[in-house]
Amino acid sequence: MDRSEEATVKVQTTRGEACEFVTPGSLAPCMLVIFGASGDLAARKLIPAFYSLYLTNSLPEPFGVVGSSRTNLSHDEFRDKMKQAIAKEGRLDLGRWDGFAAKLFYQPVTYDSLESCQELAGYLHDLDQEQNTGGNRIFYLAVPPTLYPVIAKKIGEVGLAKEGKEGNGWARIVVEKPFGRDLQTALDLDKVLHKSFRENQIFRIDHYLAKETVQNILMFRFANTIFEPIWNRNYIDYVGILAAENLGVENRAGYYEQAGVLRDMFQNHMVQLLALTAMEPPSLFEDDRVRDEKAKVGRSIKPLARETLMDNLVLGQYKGSMVESNKVPGYREEKGVNPKSITPTFALMRMFVDNWRWQGVPFYLASGKRLARKETKIVVQFKNVPHSMFREVIDEKITANRLVLGIYPEEEISLTFQTKVPGAKSCLRPVTMDFKYYQGFRGPPLDAYAKVLLDVILGDHMLFWRQDGVALSWSYLTPILHACETCANPEAQLHPYEAGSWGPVEALKWMSLIVD
Ligand code: BG6
Repeated sequence: MDRSEEATVKVQTTRGEACEFVTPGSLAPCMLVIFGASGDLAARKLIPAFYSLYLTNSLPEPFGVVGSSRTNLSHDEFRDKMKQAIAKEGRLDLGRWDGFAAKLFYQPVTYDSLESCQELAGYLHDLDQEQNTGGNRIFYLAVPPTLYPVIAKKIGEVGLAKEGKEGNGWARIVVEKPFGRDLQTALDLDKVLHKSFRENQIFRIDHYLAKETVQNILMFRFANTIFEPIWNRNYIDYVGILAAENLGVENRAGYYEQAGVLRDMFQNHMVQLLALTAMEPPSLFEDDRVRDEKAKVGRSIKPLARETLMDNLVLGQYKGSMVESNKVPGYREEKGVNPKSITPTFALMRMFVDNWRWQGVPFYLASGKRLARKETKIVVQFKNVPHSMFREVIDEKITANRLVLGIYPEEEISLTFQTKVPGAKSCLRPVTMDFKYYQGFRGPPLDAYAKVLLDVILGDHMLFWRQDGVALSWSYLTPILHACETCANPEAQLHPYEAGSWGPVEALKWMSLIVD
């Protein structure tokens, strides 16, 4: 669908200089303890993020990292492993590695053994004396979710979660999604976490919130006067939220078979994008006030009734196809996937936010694997003009305005509107005004994990889920999952789609509202 002619309007940025990440002096000395340190997340994301902060002198001083996992490694073996991972990725200059490596340590642990966790605690206390990190610690759970409760409990039992006591400074725990697999398991996990930690010690990560363009949604909406008055049912026809991926399940079948697209993408990232788009302005840009407003959106989402569920939800699963002359396997042919799997890899859901601002405005949320391309964006489609005074001179329909908040691959904001085609004849053409997010910016971009880790050191919860938000999201989704998974014939409601397409034909009517 060609919505507009390419007429880029140059955007003049006035402040292009890098704004400082944080002043390192404002960060308290601390020690990061990574559980699961021999795994993928530590090597691919966490250590590179810390090293990038080290390279920009953005870490507190003193600072240290203790890797901990079941694998027996020496300090040097751990350092080498991390160095190799960074070298393989090739993004960061290893020129200052030795200085950083001196801050990396390793201590093996058996997660469910009290004795082994006591040893770890002893080691941390000694290291803390040696490195002067003030007893401040971040515990990062880079482990499979089944280990979250085990480790959280043990941290509590060995006294490491107590703040300001027995040689401890502050203690924070970082948890990655999934936060449970339905409402009950999410509540159970919270109960375990809260046995050892208070809510403000818990940081539940959603990496979408750390994306620059996602953070920008609130700035765009609430630091400008001109958008907010029209950001409602009087002017907006519908909102589309798309998180499309061209890759398949890759090597994560074990996890994905249990999750499917609704748990993997909707419960967390998609709901966050919806909340940021729909929420009311908080009185202050402060973590709890922002999260209060998001929670209000969570409470206003209209539940989908079981009888009409499939009028509002299309589920799909990719099948094999040729994509750019390559044979791509179907989901059921992927390694580790049950050949009769009924796990959805695509969902399009029509949601309504039942409140004064959004009454009657559909929100179309779509996400899937093996779609035509990787693209993440929010589309705000405005209504048609109320009266067409041009109807006598122009035959075509006037295209309504559209605002697109591009998150990936285009990090941009674009606004489409109508103009006159130059010349004697009265014709209209839609043109698009584009703002590229990094246009005119000269500083180094901040990696999403680096941002998240800095915020944990600062104790800022703005970009993290709060317990009530998690529970609200699951309260909405659990009955839907239950209805889908317990229906008499789940296969009948799972529509196959070709890899490389825009999803099942059953979804195309709504997909065409979001996808160009
Ligand atoms: C993760 C999901 O949370 O987000 C993955 O588990 C998905 O299945 C990924 O691929 C998408 O993230 P991004 O940042 O690439 O859009």
